[in-house]
Amino acid sequence: MLVHIKEIVKEAERNHYAVGAFNIHNLESVLGVAQAAMRANSPAIIQVSEGAIKYMGLKPITHIVATVAKNIATRVPIALHLDHGKSFDAVFECIKAGFSSVHIDASDMPLDENINLTKSVVEIAHGKNVWVQGEVGAILGGHGQVKGVLENIPVAKVAEVIQFVKETGVDTIAAAIGTAHGVFENEDIRLDLLREIKQKTKIPFVLHGGSGVDEEKIKNAVKYGVNIINIGTEIKLAFTDTLKKTCAENPDETDPRNLLYPTIKAVEDAVYHQMCLFGSSGRCNTVKVET
Ligand code: G3H
Ligand code: ZN
Repeated sequence: MLVHIKEIVKEAERNHYAVGAFNIHNLESVLGVAQAAMRANSPAIIQVSEGAIKYMGLKPITHIVATVAKNIATRVPIALHLDHGKSFDAVFECIKAGFSSVHIDASDMPLDENINLTKSVVEIAHGKNVWVQGEVGAILGGHGQVKGVLENIPVAKVAEVIQFVKETGVDTIAAAIGTAHGVFENEDIRLDLLREIKQKTKIPFVLHGGSGVDEEKIKNAVKYGVNIINIGTEIKLAFTDTLKKTCAENPDETDPRNLLYPTIKAVEDAVYHQMCLFGSSGRCNTVKVET
């Protein structure tokens, strides 16, 4: 069922676990996330980037997620979120389309400009009962390179994160604390920064760049108060690795359904694994749903 993100995240905060925010790109990946959520009895956030919106169209994406949430994820709550919205217009279109949460990512701007833009999004979004995620300290990676070592992964300044949360009124906060977009050998999670940010902001923390991070580090981050973990690359890899393998093994196949069907299960398995790791599996009986 489709719910407001606050129903999912508030419950995760109360019960000290994290919910996965899974980047989807097509119908098959939406089905994979919904099937994993049903199998794990877990809430899930389905998120789309501006790139995914460009590929599928905002209306088709919104309707596909709503329909799959209603008809496939019948017993578990699913929320729809915009990931890394880079402009006021992109965010505004998603608010109009019915998203319950939007990420305005102005982390590559100077802090005061990031604060001003984020504040203007918060004003509009809150008037429409939509949550806003802000970001401080840009999270690197994801521009072609998804494996190996990523040089100079930056971290945010805690004082800036605290000032940003206070001045913008965001509902959730993302900040660079050692992870990156992609699957890199040198990704880390700075628990010292996470603890301080969590203690001083007291709002749900969103860990970006969740793919490929050491599982013990993820478990510790959940203990230190991460409530949302973004997973993108692992879904892309599950989908494309399976599709390539199926095509190679069936060179004469002409029915796209036979080539695509295994990708749904591959995404389901990858997402199911993350739900168990984050502690969100088996939680659905505790999530209250606002109708
Ligand atoms: O916003 C999306 C994520 O932060 C995804 O990161 O590709 O490393 O899983 P990832
Ligand atoms: Zn991200």
